[in-house]
Parts: sequence; structure tokens; C-alpha cells
Amino acid sequence: MATRYEHLFSPTNIGKVQLKNRIVKTAAQTYFFESGENRVGTLAKAFYGAVAKGGAGLVITETPAMEWPLLEEGDRRFRIDDDKYIKNLSELSAEVHKYGVPIFSQLYHRGPWGGIYALIAEPCAASAVTYPSPFDVHDEKPPHVLTVDEIEELVDRFASGTARLQAAGWDGIEINAAADHLFHGFLSRFWNKRDDEYGPQSMENRTRFIVNVIKEIKRRCGQDFPVQILMNAIEVGLPGDEALSIEEAKEIAKIYESIGVDSLHVRSHWAGMHQGSYNQENMFYPEPHIPLSEFPKELDWSHHGALAQVPLAPIIKSVVKIPVMTVGLIDADSGDEIIRTGKADLIGINRRFFADSNWANKVREGREEDIQPCTHCGTCNTNYNEVRYCRINACFGSESYEMEPPAEKKKKVVVVGGGPAGMQTARVAAARGHDVTLYEDGGYLGGAVALAAMVKGFDIEELPKFLKFFRTQVKKNGVNVKMRKRFDDASLAEEKPDVLVVATGGVPTKPDVEGYELRNVTKTADLYKMLKMMIALVGPQMLRKLTKIWMPVGKKVVVIGGEIQGCQLSEYLIKRGRDVTIVTEGDEMGEWLVPERKTRLFYWFDKKNIERLTGVKLVKITKEGLTIKTKEGQTRLLKAKTIIPVLPFSPNTEIADRAKGKVAEIYTIGDCDSPAVMPDATKAGWKLGNSL
Ligand SMILES: Cc1cc2nc3c(=O)[nH]c(=O)nc-3n(C[C@H](O)[C@H](O)[C@H](O)COP(=O)(O)O)c2cc1C
Ligand code: SF4
Repeated sequence: MATRYEHLFSPTNIGKVQLKNRIVKTAAQTYFFESGENRVGTLAKAFYGAVAKGGAGLVITETPAMEWPLLEEGDRRFRIDDDKYIKNLSELSAEVHKYGVPIFSQLYHRGPWGGIYALIAEPCAASAVTYPSPFDVHDEKPPHVLTVDEIEELVDRFASGTARLQAAGWDGIEINAAADHLFHGFLSRFWNKRDDEYGPQSMENRTRFIVNVIKEIKRRCGQDFPVQILMNAIEVGLPGDEALSIEEAKEIAKIYESIGVDSLHVRSHWAGMHQGSYNQENMFYPEPHIPLSEFPKELDWSHHGALAQVPLAPIIKSVVKIPVMTVGLIDADSGDEIIRTGKADLIGINRRFFADSNWANKVREGREEDIQPCTHCGTCNTNYNEVRYCRINACFGSESYEMEPPAEKKKKVVVVGGGPAGMQTARVAAARGHDVTLYEDGGYLGGAVALAAMVKGFDIEELPKFLKFFRTQVKKNGVNVKMRKRFDDASLAEEKPDVLVVATGGVPTKPDVEGYELRNVTKTADLYKMLKMMIALVGPQMLRKLTKIWMPVGKKVVVIGGEIQGCQLSEYLIKRGRDVTIVTEGDEMGEWLVPERKTRLFYWFDKKNIERLTGVKLVKITKEGLTIKTKEGQTRLLKAKTIIPVLPFSPNTEIADRAKGKVAEIYTIGDCDSPAVMPDATKAGWKLGNSL
């Protein structure tokens, strides 16, 4: 089939392994593996199989535990340190091969990484150098310095592990010598202070460890067995002049090629900012981490982190003949252009496959509007050692990536509420053959997501794409949308549905505090009503711009509520010049915020001296502000012109209760069932739509 992305979909090779296109699913920890001997189970097979079926040219699986149990956070990575794992591992390669797609595995050793990984043993490295940062996983305590015997033992581990993968049917490996993992620590003069043959005195010494690993792998697995190296083309953010430079990286790339490495995957390392090294958009949240003018010039920061590393690929490519891969929020258009202009030979894609395992096929077929878009929300970066999940792809982390077959019996389904849970249920139920009507009493589909988009902004997260996907799918699947129509008893009598799905969202929670009725309190219900009306009129983008000019909010504000809603609203207000204090009766703040973004947001709050008070008791509101009792027992008046309660919604079962006894099947999902965030809504809608 002809495709408008002819360069992206042109075939190529890594060594003797043929790829039908240039799209490589890059390695990323999913925690889809299981404990015990049979680590490959249904979750891993389902996901990697779906990506292969979904059109990737090459699948690179995440790294196994290289030195079990050293530096492990738990039990959800696979193992290659014993022959007993081979049989079970071969189930995964067979699953990917079923679709004619080759499979590589990444291998890396966490080396100096401590933090959450140090549950079981001590970090280790080339030298006793550490660089702690709130955004990274280095300990204050320097790592253990590897002895020569230990280095040689690791060479054997990498080679014997690779041989087992080969025996299990893997077609190649990628060694991760990037980030600030073990291998990189030998390559960079900042980290390597050794005085032996692995020291920084010469490039030969610095590369000796990784070179020995590669040579030993080739010796055991054959020269034809492909080895790709993931390398840093530059290291930034370190003091002094010992960080890895582009010139040094070029030299290293040539060494790799000279010893038979088959391809290079080019990234960069921002020291102290692990996320800045592979999901660069985080460096812009909530504002550029350092002044934009001081961002490293070697990368391209003109797209808020997307495509940032692309300029590094042609620099490395200029000194080698082997294929070079680039990565980092690349989409089909930019990927095709990168290949066409020869900047790189392979395009690494990760989160787009998380968000839609069928991404590559849909791109090739020109079905862009059917792609579940990755909106860079960071949700998948949560929860070490817990099965990862995605905000838009309800299947990610499940046993199946397919919609259920068409329903045997066509039902009349009425969905009330056009938020994400309602739209998801409606489009899935309609796609499965039901007759679906969607009631929305507001002026647009999207519910609280459109509000969230307005509050979060559009530079880092692309929530409008999330909305567009669901709106398009609702329409394409023939859902009958009744806009600006309240669902009341008359509608129920008229529709006579077999199935009623109530997805109206929750009701605002009123804080229990004296003085709530005063005029300086922005009532949540009024706020949402006004914002929804404004969004229907001018759209979230314009409304966001307008609120930079004027908002009915005083200079000094107290936000009541420390969950995601309160924290993000506070960020929004601070960016509009308001002096905000956040209070919560709970013990913690930031519930539902994605961990990486929470770290960054709270760091930013601290820099701006934003007071955050947990465990408070709300005493009363007066026209001077909010009086609280702190958790230490002090009574304090928090002076404020405006007080905004932003508490999670409370369940709303009114419509469902009224319909009881009149409809055979009634479901409440999303916020109106229990307080939830977007991933819960898309998942609930997917599950329900597939079960009808
Ligand atoms: C949840 C998550 C886990 C990741 N784990 C790894 C990893 O183990 N090794 C690695 O080299 N890159 C890892 N990455 C980086 C990805 O492979 C990829 O480089 C990055 O997500 C940028 O590509 P994308 O914008 O297409 O997602 C991870 C990324 C994410 C989001
Ligand atoms: S969770 Fe968010 S960032 Fe991760 S793949 Fe899904 S949409 Fe993209």
C-alpha cells in the first residue's frame, strides 16, 4: 500500500537483520514481567506482540535485571543469568516473530544509581563520584568502586546473558552506555577517576570495559549477531570541563564501529536530570528549569523538548558508516523528514507505542485520526516496579490490545455526560454495533478535560489532541450526540434505553467551614459553570490567554485542596502573578500528580516560596481571609482577597437513582462514581464499552 511516509517506511538493515521500516520501538521499562522462573507472562507477550503486530520495524525489549538482585527495585524485570530462563524467554521472541518483526533486548547495568534502586545492594561505578540531585537517583554516599575482577565478571555476565537471549531467539541486543549508567561512568572523565587500565588517561582505557563486553559478545554469539550501542553524544549540566564532549563521543563512535558494532542509538545526558536525558519536555515543566538561554546549545529546544536530540544524530553519523538512530517525541512527519534528509537512519519511538500499539500501521495507512495520541502527560513514568499504565491507552498494561468483537445483541445505549469516560464508553459501544446516544448538557464534548487543558496549558501536554481523538471517534462510530440537552425523566421515557451509562462527572465538594457563603469565596460550582461557558464560547486556548490579562481573582489567594486539582490551579494562578497559599486537611499534598512532575512542581513552589500547609483544620472564613489550625496546633489567619476551594469531586448518583427500576442495565462511571483522574476515566469507559 502506498504511504505518504515513504522514507519512514523504507526497509533497511542492522547488520544482517532486515527491518521492514525505520521505526524502532525503543527500550523502556514496563514492569510487565512476572516474578519467579517464568518471567515472560501474558502482559509482556501481549504488549510486545501488539507493537510487532502494530507495524514496528524492530522491537527492543526493556533491559533485564543484569545482576540480580543487585540494584533491583522489585521483581518485575526478566532475568538472563541462568539457562533455566531460556525456554520461557523464547515465548516472547516467538510472539514478536509471529508478525515477522525482529526483536532485540536492551541491556544495562544501573551502576551508580542508588535511590529507589538501592533496596537490595550498594550502587557501584568506575569511581567514587556522586552527583546527587532531587531529579535523579544518585545517593549522597559515593558508589562502590568496581575492582578489575568485578569488571571482568561483568563482562562475562553481559556476554553469557546475551548468549542466552540468542538461544531464546532474540535477533540482537542494544547495550545502553548512555544516561549515567555503569558504562557511561567509564567513558566520561567527570565520573572516571581511576588510575588503572580502565581509567581516563586515554580513550583506549576509558572504552576498555565496554569494548571488552562487545568483543566477548561477538566472540560467543558470532560476528553476525547484531550489537547496537545506545550512546551519549554529549553530557551537559556538569561543573568543570570533564563532561563527555561531542568530539569525544565522535571518537567513541568510531571505536564502536571499528570493533564491529552494527548500529548506534544517539542520545544525550543532562547530569542530575535523568528525565531531561530522555523525556526532554520535562525540562520545561512547570517553567524552563534554568533560563532558556542557558539550555545546552547542542540540542534543539525550539519544540519544548520534542526532537531536542535530533541534531546530535547527524554529528555522530558524519564519522561512521553504520546506521544511526535518533529518538525523542518524533512523529511521523518529522521522522520521515529525518530519514529523507539523511540526519539519521532509524527513528526511535517509545511512548507513541504505549499510547497506541498500532501506531505504525495507522501512520502507514494514513489513519492519523484513529491514532490514540500520546499527549506527553508523564503518567506512564510512574510507579517503580508497578505495571505501567497510560492515560489514553486503556489496554497498556493489560492482557489484550484489541477491542472485543461486535456484540451479539444490539442494544440501545444512552450515555449521559460527554467527558472522557462517557466518550470512551460511547465510541467503544458504538464500534461494537450498539445503537448509542450521548447526552451532553454543556456546549462541547470533553467535560473537565477541556478545563484541565486550559489550566495545564498546551506547551508540554497536548490535551487538545486527547479531546480531538475522542470527539472524532464518537462521530466516526456513529454515536448520536445530543448537545446542550439535559437528560431528564422525559428523555428517559422517550429513549427507553436497554443500557443507561451515567458519566456526568461528580459534584463539587463543599468544604466544611464557617463563612463559605462569603463573597470572597469562589464557589466551585459557579467557577466550573462559568469556565465551561467561556470554553464553549472562546475555546480553552483563548480563555487561557484572556486570563493572563484579567481574572476575577485577588492578588492574594488561598487554595483549599492539595490534590492534583488544587496544585495545578495554584501553578496556574502563580503564573498569573497571584500570591498563593495551598492548604489541605490531608496529610499529603499532590495526590494524583505524576511523580516526576510533582517533584518538579514542588521544587518550583519552593523556589517561589509558596507556602503549602498539610494536616490543617479549616476554622473559618472572614473577609480578611481563612483562619486555620495548623497541624502543630497554632491558630493562623491566612490573609487573602480570594479563597478558592478545589476539592476532588464527590459522587453523583442522582440520574442513576432516578432511573432505577426503569432501565435493565444502569452503570455509573468516572467522577460520578468515585473521584478519578483521566486514566481512570478512559479505562473505565473502555472496560464498560467492551462489556456491553
Ligand atoms: C516509562 C519509560 C521508561 C523508559 N525506560 C527506558 C529504559 O529502560 N532504557 C532506555 O534506554 N530508555 C528508556 N526510556 C526512554 C525511551 O526509550 C525513549 O527514549 C523516550 O521515551 C523518548 O522517546 P518517545 O518520546 O518516543 O517516548 C523510557 C521512557 C519511558 C517513558
Ligand atoms: S501515559 Fe501519557 S506520556 Fe505516557 S504514553 Fe500515555 S499519553 Fe503518552
